[in-house]
Amino acid sequence: MHTRLLPSVVRPIGASLKLTENCQAKCVTCDYWKTRWEDGLSTERAVETINRLSDFGIRYLRFTGGEPLLRRDLFEILRRADTSRFKRISLQTNGLLLKKLHKEINESPINKVSVSIDGLEATNDAIRGTKEYFRLAFEGLQLLQGKSIQVAATLNRRSSEELQSLVDLVTGYGYEFAYNLLDNHLYFFRNGDVESLWPKEDDIERIGQVLEHKLKRPAYEIKYVKEYFRRSVAAEPPCAIGFLEVYVASNGDVMSGCYVLAPVGNLLKQDLGEIILSKAYKDRCVSMTRRECPGCTCGVLTSLRIQNVGQGVRVLTKGILSRRRAAGESLRSAGPTQ
Ligand SMILES: C[S@@+](CC[C@H](N)C(=O)[O-])C[C@H]1O[C@@H](n2cnc3c(N)ncnc32)[C@H](O)[C@@H]1O
Ligand code: SF4
Ligand code: SF4
Repeated sequence: MHTRLLPSVVRPIGASLKLTENCQAKCVTCDYWKTRWEDGLSTERAVETINRLSDFGIRYLRFTGGEPLLRRDLFEILRRADTSRFKRISLQTNGLLLKKLHKEINESPINKVSVSIDGLEATNDAIRGTKEYFRLAFEGLQLLQGKSIQVAATLNRRSSEELQSLVDLVTGYGYEFAYNLLDNHLYFFRNGDVESLWPKEDDIERIGQVLEHKLKRPAYEIKYVKEYFRRSVAAEPPCAIGFLEVYVASNGDVMSGCYVLAPVGNLLKQDLGEIILSKAYKDRCVSMTRRECPGCTCGVLTSLRIQNVGQGVRVLTKGILSRRRAAGESLRSAGPTQ
């Protein structure tokens, strides 16, 4: 992507916030649960951070982690922060605490809940390293009221034969189904077991069928997913995520929508706006569009969409208003990011 086409100022519209990176599940693909993490953002700091994100123009806020529902003060933070300007506040969760906390979630300004489920019951519980995971997650989901609900699956070999049934089950409940791609480039996936779950040729074909016929995904996306699993992607899309999203880790690190490259600043030492409006931040976002990075699947479906859909170019080139509208559309419809 030619840099002349990029916006002159970086004004992300979405934020992913990790108030904790601790987790009680034991997913084989993920490293989070292997470490005891320090939560660097106090209740007060978390409230200030959310307010600052809102002041800065963020309209799509996502709590992820680790497991965000392990932060005992999450609902107090949401009560104390000014959440009125967010169009969407979503919760990316393993679902283990949904049953216990459904009343708090129902009363909170969270309006979207995305639960990670990687297969039917036995397969999911094995991949997630947690007995009763599937049952707890689905029972919890049914207690939610007035929320948009998504089930997010990381595509894999073990559940490729069940994928169609999982999609039927999820859509039968009226929930949205989304997916993401196995990765081991992010700091929290580096030692996960990705190889034993990597789809083989017949799994790839089955996955492709579900993406095409059940999920009606566009041809360019299906092609990318198949090539990705065959390890034969010819050209990665320019990574647009830096212009669309900012990530904040549990120690206050601020990242340009990328968990692989080094953080650009830290909230505990600098103002968020100062970090995002800095030259270093902009240079980073531009270099991301040139793919000066080791690569990862985080946000790749959004970048592909921007590359392939006519509006994509407008997302990154037109004035703030049309850009933000189109970017919001991209953030709403993209699969989950990590
Ligand atoms: C790290 S989790 C954090 C939020 C929450 N604990 C959960 O599991 O939904 C975010 C997403 O990453 C997915 N994930 C886990 N391991 C992965 C891997 N190795 N590659 C790609 N996505 C992965 C999870 O299934 C989940 O949808
Ligand atoms: S994927 Fe989510 S639930 Fe599983 S160990 Fe990682 S953070 Fe926990
Ligand atoms: S594709 Fe590259 S620049 Fe984009 S988020 Fe992944 S590692 Fe970062």
